[in-house]
Amino acid sequence: MNCNVQTRIGEQFLEVPFYNASGVLCVNTNDLDKLYECNYTGAVVTKSCTLKYRSGNPEPRYWCGEYGSINSSGLPNNGFDYYAKWMIDKNTKPVFLSTSPMNKNELNIIANKIRDLDYIKNPEFNLSCPNVINKPQIGYSFDDMKNTLQMITEILGEKKFGVKLPPYFDPIHFDYASDILSYYNTLSYITCSNSIGNGLLINTETEETRIRPKNGLGGIGGKYCLPVALSNIFQFNERLPNIDIVGCGGIYNGEDVFQHILAGACAVQVGTCLYENGISTFNKLYNELIELMRKKGYKCLNEFKGKIKII
Ligand code: DHB
Repeated sequence: MNCNVQTRIGEQFLEVPFYNASGVLCVNTNDLDKLYECNYTGAVVTKSCTLKYRSGNPEPRYWCGEYGSINSSGLPNNGFDYYAKWMIDKNTKPVFLSTSPMNKNELNIIANKIRDLDYIKNPEFNLSCPNVINKPQIGYSFDDMKNTLQMITEILGEKKFGVKLPPYFDPIHFDYASDILSYYNTLSYITCSNSIGNGLLINTETEETRIRPKNGLGGIGGKYCLPVALSNIFQFNERLPNIDIVGCGGIYNGEDVFQHILAGACAVQVGTCLYENGISTFNKLYNELIELMRKKGYKCLNEFKGKIKII
């Protein structure tokens, strides 16, 4: 049986439903090229950029154990213009610019640049970086979120865009967030979810934190995140029928991808597993997803997307 795993995010077409999570293997053009040239990535997203180069937080700032990772990178990136330049003439698969402006002034400048560059399509505005000291996560303040979306949509005009959200944990927060998100009809997708912010992983032997910045607090990724991501996809999918959902969190194998899609995702991003295992991750996910679909008799993603059965 021939399986087809093609998908769409907004109006953009993906040959396969997986790509990197922003932050992983996408800070410099060498790594971005590898992702772009890989036959098993459906798209590429850049490191969340600020207006100018940032070196990020002091090291060690990433650590990974059996169940997942902790990071407090602090937005190390090469600045907006670097990523915008890399994206020129990338026409064989979608490339998404991710941006996490440091303040309103930067947001204003970056959003204006995005509006003026036709080839930047469906940028991902990151409303959920947990690792910049004294900068709260926008997605956890619904007033901030509304003001930010208002500003983005006023500047971008007709141009479509997406947002990367932090994970939410209470159904009322999904109601509040959905009320705001559904108001903006140029919002074409949401990515659920960013890392679980401000977790703490400890080394029992040395009795030390695993990372240095923020007294050891950082964003948790990897296996810890799968049930949280699935719940976020599921709860937003119920509330936002007209917005595509990109899943992100805890994907290590084809079954994890399958579950994200079942919960309502149209595509998925891979973070910690990609960081740990490199680009061959995508070939493995492809083979495993196809095998599972064959076993279940599914010929395309739409046959099971969002079709989770409630018992
Ligand atoms: C960083 C981490 C994030 O989770 C994010 O969304 C953006 C930036 C970082 O620490 O670099």
